[in-house]
Amino acid sequence: MGMLRPSKELVTKAKQGKYAVGAFNAVNMESAQAVFDAGERERAPFIIQITQTTINYTEPDELFAMLRALSERATVPHAIHLDHGRSFAIVMRFLRLGMTSVMIDGSLGEDGKTPRTYDDNAAITRKVVEAAHAIGVTVEGEIGWLGQVEDAKGEEILTKPDEAARFVKDTGVDMLAVAIGTKHGLFKGTPKIYADRVAEIAAVTNLPLVMHGGTGVPDDAVRKAVANGISKINIDTQIRVAFYDSVIESIHEIEKEFAEIDKKGEVRKFDIRGILKPAREAMREAVANRIRVFGSSGKA
Ligand code: G3H
Ligand code: ZN
Repeated sequence: MGMLRPSKELVTKAKQGKYAVGAFNAVNMESAQAVFDAGERERAPFIIQITQTTINYTEPDELFAMLRALSERATVPHAIHLDHGRSFAIVMRFLRLGMTSVMIDGSLGEDGKTPRTYDDNAAITRKVVEAAHAIGVTVEGEIGWLGQVEDAKGEEILTKPDEAARFVKDTGVDMLAVAIGTKHGLFKGTPKIYADRVAEIAAVTNLPLVMHGGTGVPDDAVRKAVANGISKINIDTQIRVAFYDSVIESIHEIEKEFAEIDKKGEVRKFDIRGILKPAREAMREAVANRIRVFGSSGKA
């Protein structure tokens, strides 16, 4: 297995060492290379994750084969994780590929919108835990409703410590995603992150806790949440922003170059790598920057 580990190993060490392992989403070769490269350069343990929506873009086994190739060369501990699995069947499909870690997001139904009841969430999560643990794979569950409190119905969306403790007991999950004021994508204004709530949940569950929607959380709030019990932080949008910014800049440059070439009456040249290479570097820097803030640099 080499450096490819179940993520439980990585997050348990992080919990003890009071830092967080970055969990970064990849969708293609360049983003995957960026994550591995950043982890190597920072000598940091990391998690690379893919979501089930990958299916709408490529065959998951093709993406997974590439991750395995990168994994074999890696010299720092890492896990390959399914992010936001929404049904038992989907999780099984990804498990079969050889993931070392999976998330069953039972807080929402298969449409990714309708909330599930506590009992439904606990039942599907328990089922995934039984299957995954039988083959040594880590399971992340979720309880609460991920969102920015300011644009939701109020603080009742946050994970309740007593419910979290009950959920952990009922399901046997290895790590728990909690609602503490973060949401997926960019925030409106500065988000309020409920670090005290993190500490309360950590005290009653004694499990590594996961922050979703890590993009845009101010560095100070990240550090406070980590000090209070967050051991894994998910980052997706920030990598996409780095990609977009770089590609937009490249395209502007190319437009200028083409105008010059046209003016001289010469022929245009095309090289896709001229766009993707700087984009890959920008994604790598975005990932490395978060790794440093999470405190996982040098922890490999
Ligand atoms: O599961 C993935 C994430 O929670 C990422 O959230 O796109 O806001 O960074 P983000
Ligand atoms: Zn998420």
